[in-house]
Amino acid sequence: MSDGLDYGRLYEFRFRGVEQESRQIVWNEIGPYVWKRMGKPARVLDPAGGRGEFLNSIPADERWLVDMVDYPHRDTVPEVKVVIGDVLSLDLPPNYFDGIFVSNLLEHLPSPDALADFLARMRTTLAPGGVLAIMGPNFKYCAREYFDCADHTLALTHISVHEHLIASRIRGRIGRTALFALLVPRPASRVGPAHPLVPADATALAGCRESVPVAGPLNGPLMGNETPVAALPKPGAGLLPSVAKHPSRVGARGESNGMGFSRDVVIVGGCGRVGLPLGLALANSGLAVTLYDRDAFAVDRVRAGKMPFFEREADEALERLIPTDRLEVTTEAQSVAEAEHVIVVVGTPVDEHLNPDPSAVLNVIEGLLDQLHDGQHLVLRSTVYPGVTAMIEKLLRSAHRTIDVSFCPERLAEGRALEELRTLPQLVAARTERAVRRAEQLFGGVSPKLIRLEVEEAELAKLFTNTWRYIKFAAANQLFMIANDFGLDFARIRSALKEDYPRAADMPGPGLAAGPCLLKDTMQLAAFNNNNFTLGHASMTINEGLPMYMVARLEREYDIANMTVGILGMAFKAESDDTRSSLSYKLKRLLRFRAARVLCNDPYVASDHELWPLDDVLAESDLLVIATPHEVYSHLDVDVPIIDIWNLLGRGEHV
Ligand SMILES: NC(=O)c1ccc[n+]([C@@H]2O[C@H](COP(=O)([O-])OP(=O)(O)OC[C@H]3O[C@@H](n4cnc5c(N)ncnc54)[C@H](O)[C@@H]3O)[C@@H](O)[C@H]2O)c1
Repeated sequence: MSDGLDYGRLYEFRFRGVEQESRQIVWNEIGPYVWKRMGKPARVLDPAGGRGEFLNSIPADERWLVDMVDYPHRDTVPEVKVVIGDVLSLDLPPNYFDGIFVSNLLEHLPSPDALADFLARMRTTLAPGGVLAIMGPNFKYCAREYFDCADHTLALTHISVHEHLIASRIRGRIGRTALFALLVPRPASRVGPAHPLVPADATALAGCRESVPVAGPLNGPLMGNETPVAALPKPGAGLLPSVAKHPSRVGARGESNGMGFSRDVVIVGGCGRVGLPLGLALANSGLAVTLYDRDAFAVDRVRAGKMPFFEREADEALERLIPTDRLEVTTEAQSVAEAEHVIVVVGTPVDEHLNPDPSAVLNVIEGLLDQLHDGQHLVLRSTVYPGVTAMIEKLLRSAHRTIDVSFCPERLAEGRALEELRTLPQLVAARTERAVRRAEQLFGGVSPKLIRLEVEEAELAKLFTNTWRYIKFAAANQLFMIANDFGLDFARIRSALKEDYPRAADMPGPGLAAGPCLLKDTMQLAAFNNNNFTLGHASMTINEGLPMYMVARLEREYDIANMTVGILGMAFKAESDDTRSSLSYKLKRLLRFRAARVLCNDPYVASDHELWPLDDVLAESDLLVIATPHEVYSHLDVDVPIIDIWNLLGRGEHV
């Protein structure tokens, strides 16, 4: 009968050939850095201190090392007090340590309950105002190597650790890309930072990136974040209709569709906000669809039947389609060669100087030239700078590919994509009758109506659609500011002027008009027209300037320099988890310079680890700003002022 895992022997094996001296050299860099970020605590505990490299490297007055393994050669300096034992059962003094540094321990704990017990113990032994810092491998970024360590049991990511902290009632901040948190369980005061490490300032943790790579390969490469959807509401009624028979579908998996293709459609950017709903709709209509995306995390998630973002009806559709051969998900570019229709719907971002990059889609097609071959139908669905379709046609000609090209822009609203695909008309444009017919056949299976345009007309139509909306929001925002400056309630004025008066029926209310498309597309149109777009530029100034206006008004009305301001809603629109280009973040940045403290909440957003639970924001804020009109904020029961330019509470639009 064994006594369980022999950790001493295991670590001797694992670190064979690694000189203790070189480990100490590395920790001499990490240790003082972490200790400084923790606020230089005087009494420090390292609850799985190993050979003492961290504690050796810091000049804290009192340093306690706890470890289960009694190493024969433990090179701790005399100031380090070594306790051999299990930190989960050992008696630790209550309210004692000013700082606890947990390094590469949580992943070894046997269960989520043990982790909760551990955090509870740390909470007890930590002095009021003390700091807990956590570092460890992030499963999200080193999944393949994570279980190469015999003693790894719990798979943890920065998100799951954050959840554990919340469940343990430990309040804190957590680095987004690495598993590294700085926490203060017991804030000393209500107003103002309770501790230098808990300012309303994200830069407090920016340095955590630096501490990660030196700690070994398991701390993995640093990458972007995903948006798990666990906290999102269940989709509403109105699921996709059951599978139809699309006219041009291939047969069972592997069979040709009569034109030598084993798949009907491949969507490049297939796990994105536009590509994925479209893929679901096409697969649901009976086509064999491959979702090709270079984002391996999104691909893994979708393949596992989980949506990487919130979209009504999509969870059910994905769950139903994934087990069938109508939906495949891959990171393999080779898949592009297998399909008759290649739909490209990659993002079209603006660059660091806010210039739309007209070559984004072109570059993607250029990168796929080896996969593209005669007889295919290439559908451009990204929003493009006018003229990009012609450039792509030229590229294909010069590469001697005989491929039909069409431009069929997406005009959906995120969150309602599946419903809108089957209810809104589809613009279809191509230069040859054959390409138009192929596009019509493809979209005819999902769209209720097809509208033909010339290619350049369709490119402009897409930009005009978004720009028009953006200008309307700007007009409403400007009118709101005029009324507000005059001390009047815009909501009352708007409601009265619209009543039984159809010519004003489409006047929107004011709000933070943001998101990944409207501003960017207005900028594309301005750039296309040699920056001769007065109305577009004025709209950008008004919409992007609204947070500035709001903060200036708040400064006039309240002593915000001595107040905690709570921002409710970080997504760019209601009931969404998408924070791309959200003006809530601009508001946050502005308020950080002016308010004593800024706390943010969003029930949908999982990608921002500086968010606070709603109850805490409500309890600790002296002033609240509804930045996103999520339904959940429409029943707030607090006695502090609420700034509600959306009129979500029905009390008027003032700031
Ligand atoms: N989001 C909207 O509401 C909306 C509405 C209408 C139109 N659009 C337009 O649709 C396009 C896509 O927007 P989105 O919101 O879906 O973006 P997104 O970022 O959600 O999706 C783009 C996807 O493309 C993938 N990708 C990027 N380059 C790739 C490559 N070379 N190979 C394979 N995959 C690649 C990304 O990993 C991502 O998953 C943009 O042009 C956008 O303007 C968006």
